[in-house]
Amino acid sequence: SNLDPHVLVIFGASGDLAQRKLVPAVFELFRGGYLPEKFALLGASRTDFTDEAFRNKVIFENEHFKSDGAKEEEIKAFSEKLFYQDLATYDGEKDIKALADRLKKLDKELGVGRNYIFYLSTPPKLYSTIPAALAKAGLNNNQDAWARLIVEKPFGYNEQSAIKLNREIQEHFPENTIYRIDHYLGKETVQNLLVTRFANGFFEPLWNRNYVQSVQITAAETVGVGSRGGYYDESGAMRDMVQNHLLQVLAHVAMEPPIRADAPSIRNEKLKLFQSLRPITKKDVKTHVVRGQYTEGITSEGKEVAYRDSPGVPEKSKTETYVAMKFFIDNWRWAGVPFFVRTGKCLPLKLTEVVITFKNPPQAIFAEYDDYAMSCDNQLIIRIQPDEGMALEFGMKVPGEGFRVKNVDMDFFYRDLTKNDVPEAYTRLLLDCMKGEPTLYARGDSVEAAWAFVDPILEAWEKDEVPLYSYPAGSWGPLQADALWSGGLGNGWRNPT
Ligand code: BG6
Repeated sequence: SNLDPHVLVIFGASGDLAQRKLVPAVFELFRGGYLPEKFALLGASRTDFTDEAFRNKVIFENEHFKSDGAKEEEIKAFSEKLFYQDLATYDGEKDIKALADRLKKLDKELGVGRNYIFYLSTPPKLYSTIPAALAKAGLNNNQDAWARLIVEKPFGYNEQSAIKLNREIQEHFPENTIYRIDHYLGKETVQNLLVTRFANGFFEPLWNRNYVQSVQITAAETVGVGSRGGYYDESGAMRDMVQNHLLQVLAHVAMEPPIRADAPSIRNEKLKLFQSLRPITKKDVKTHVVRGQYTEGITSEGKEVAYRDSPGVPEKSKTETYVAMKFFIDNWRWAGVPFFVRTGKCLPLKLTEVVITFKNPPQAIFAEYDDYAMSCDNQLIIRIQPDEGMALEFGMKVPGEGFRVKNVDMDFFYRDLTKNDVPEAYTRLLLDCMKGEPTLYARGDSVEAAWAFVDPILEAWEKDEVPLYSYPAGSWGPLQADALWSGGLGNGWRNPT
C-alpha cells in the first residue's frame, strides 16, 4: 500500500452503520492489501466497550461481517488493528481530551502516526459540535500531518441548515478536508455513467434535446421502514433519497462534460447542473410532484404493516414513503426535455435504474404492417442495481413477410467485466478518503444547491397544500404518478417485472 499511515476514528462505532457497512468495508481494504502497514481503526461511542468487546461486536459476532474465503489468521490480524474509546458525550471537553490521549498512545505503541480520518456516523445534531470539539483539542490540524472529516448523511435538513452546517464545520476544517459521503457515488454503475457518456463517441452526440425524448430515474425498494421509523419519519423519501442519492445520479446523467476527470472539474459541472434545475415553485408542486405513503400489503419480503403502524412512526404521520416528480433543466443541452424521478419503499422490486428514451424517427413508415412500430421505444436502460449493466432497446424486423417490427435488446452485464464481485460503495469511498481523493464526495456548495431545489416542495408538503396519497405495500405507488407524463411527454414509467 502506498497510503500514508493513519488512524480512522469512527464516531458512533457501536451503531448500525459501522457494523453493517464500515467495518466490513475496512476489512475488504485490509484483505486487498490497500491499508498501510501502520494503521488503526479507533471506534468511539457512548457504549462502554473494551477493545475486545468492540472487536467481538463488529467482527466476530457481526452477521454483516463478510469473510467469505477469509482465513482465520487474516480476520484475527485485522481485529488487532481495532481499538475502542468510550465517550460519555461525544463532544465534551473531557471526552475529546481522552480521545486525544488515546490517539497519542496508539502512536507511541504502534507507530501509526498522527494522520487522522474522523468519521461522523452519529446523530446529525453532533455534526457541528464534534468538529468544534476536535478543534479545541488541536486534532483538526497537527503540523506535518493531515486530518480529514467524513460526514454522513443527512447533511442538513433544508438549504438554510445546510448553509449553517457548512459554515460551522468549515470554521474548523477547510473545505478540502471535508468529505460529505453519499454512498450512491461509490456505486460502480453510478461512476460508470461518466465513462459511458464521456469515453464513447456514439452516446454523447445523442445525449441532448435533439434526440432525447425523456429521462427517468427510478430507485425502488421492497423493504418498509422496519425499525428505522424514528429516523425516517423526520426525513421521508425526499430527504432520505432524492435530495442526495438521486440528484447525484441525475448529475452524472445530465451534467456537461468536465474539462478533466478530476475533483474540481467534475464538481464544478455538478454544481452548474443543480443550478440549472428549473425551480418547482410552490404553485407547481401539485402538478409536478406526487407524494405517497404505503398502507398495509404484501411485498416480496412478506406481509407489511402500514407505515403509520410501524414502530417509531406517529399514528397520523404525513411523512412520504414515496415520491415521484417531473422537472426540467433550463440549459442549452436539455431545454424542453422532461426528467422524471421516483423512489419509494414497499414497491414490487428492489431496483435502481436510469432510462433514456430517444425520440422516434420522423416518419413511421412501417405503421401499416404493425401498430407496434409506431411506439417502438428506443431506450437505453442503465441498471444501477441489481444486475448492474446496461441494455439498449431498439426495433428489428420480424422475419417473414411484410415489415413487422419488434423491440429487441442488446444487454450488457457488468459482472462479465470482472471475476470479482463489484466492489461495495463504502469500500471505494473509504479508500478514496484515505488517499485524499474527494471526487466522489459531495462538495458543500452543491449540497446547498440540491437543497434549494427540493425546499419549496418540502415547504408545500409541510403546509399540506397538496394531497398525500396512499398506496398498498407491494404496488408501484399511487396511480396519480402516471399523470405526471400527461401532455405528450412520453410513454410513462417503466415498471420492470
Ligand atoms: C440510505 C437510506 O441512504 O439508502 C435508506 O437512508 C435506503 O432508506 C438506502 O434504504 C438505499 O441504499 P441502497 O444502496 O440499498 O440502494
